[in-house]
Amino acid sequence: MNPLILKGVRPYGEGDPTDVLIRDGVIAAIGSVEAEDAEVVEGNGAVLLPGFVDLHTHLREPGREDTETIATGSAAAALGGYTAVFAMANTNPVADNEVVVQHVARRGREVGLVDVHPVGAVTVGLEGVKLAELGTMARAGVRVFSDDGHCVHDPLIMRRALEYSKALDVVVAQHAEEPRLTVGAQAHEGEQASRLGLQGWPAAAEESIVARDCLLALHAGARLHVCHVSTTGTADVLRWAKARGTDVSAEVTPHHLLLTDERLETYDPVNKVNPPLRTAADVHKLREALAEGVIDCVATDHAPHAVQDKDCEWSAARPGMLGLQTALSIVVETMVRTGLLDWRGVARVMSERPAEIAGLPDQGRPIEVGEPANLTLVDPDATWTVRGAEFASIAVNTPFEGMELPGAVVATLLRGRVTAVGGRIPA
Ligand code: DOR
Ligand code: ZN
Repeated sequence: MNPLILKGVRPYGEGDPTDVLIRDGVIAAIGSVEAEDAEVVEGNGAVLLPGFVDLHTHLREPGREDTETIATGSAAAALGGYTAVFAMANTNPVADNEVVVQHVARRGREVGLVDVHPVGAVTVGLEGVKLAELGTMARAGVRVFSDDGHCVHDPLIMRRALEYSKALDVVVAQHAEEPRLTVGAQAHEGEQASRLGLQGWPAAAEESIVARDCLLALHAGARLHVCHVSTTGTADVLRWAKARGTDVSAEVTPHHLLLTDERLETYDPVNKVNPPLRTAADVHKLREALAEGVIDCVATDHAPHAVQDKDCEWSAARPGMLGLQTALSIVVETMVRTGLLDWRGVARVMSERPAEIAGLPDQGRPIEVGEPANLTLVDPDATWTVRGAEFASIAVNTPFEGMELPGAVVATLLRGRVTAVGGRIPA
């Protein structure tokens, strides 16, 4: 592989444009760099960040390759600025055993556009009844376990999962939803749901599980990660738990940082997601909590669905939204343009914290000589219009269709190799 020069880039958006030389997958020099045989990517003053890490991606392979494959999802990730993604376990068959997780990891390596880390299921078949073979999967390289899509609702199973995760030095990521409180739920429980005649999904169904799990994690001396935080109350619980020394981390999705349940007015199922879109007050609070570090990071919950599963009546539609190719722009819109985060902050929530939470040694690293060249180049001044049909994903269920968004990924580098540039995957 030839050396590569990123010309005229601004690490973390700070200082004057400089040049970065990448050789053998590593940052070899920053400043005045020279290499005769180097390939050049023109930065034009773009912001250089550590490559993004997504702790929460649904790639749908195996089982629903009509909506996304590891190849198409990896392309979407690279185009979105990601260098590592965690592929959720709710595939068919479920990733609750060594064979499936090894298959996902191998396909990810073959595609080679992004590091694909399989998430292992916590319970067999995501049924919440019997613990899966966490040890076997951990030995196969699994770092994160989750029944996402389902909550590990049985407190004894959750307690055991946390105890094992501690012994195995892995992390359990909880989809916090007390199922007894969300039977038939279709939308955030509140004024809007009542008006529209949709059965409510109460904030307390999330908050009560997060509170319980924080207490269980503290009791077990284990680490807990909370998926897609969606309410003010959950942010309050996390602040309380962290203050008393609980080893808990949390993520928020781009859609929960921007959209509210006012979007449900049209009954368009593109807005159906689990947990549901909440109120403007929640959105405001989630942004603040992310800026403060009470919520650690952004994760997409990229959830491709087939047209027939989204273009139908509300109650029959599946929950979920595409996220990989819009995440950065939504973060720019909600966190950077509002002054809540600078580019160092974006690096923290999109790359450094997720890499730390999952224990990835070569992602989310500082932009320094000697560090692996997992990098994302962002044009902060670009604007673009979202067209789901143009995404690399097979599915088109983006709630941001037609929106003009700020900030664009110029290039993504995985160990020094260009995996996306100018909105294209290089041949
Ligand atoms: O909206 C969602 N979609 N939430 C989940 O928890 C699961 C996901 C999916 O798999 O489609
Ligand atoms: Zn979930």
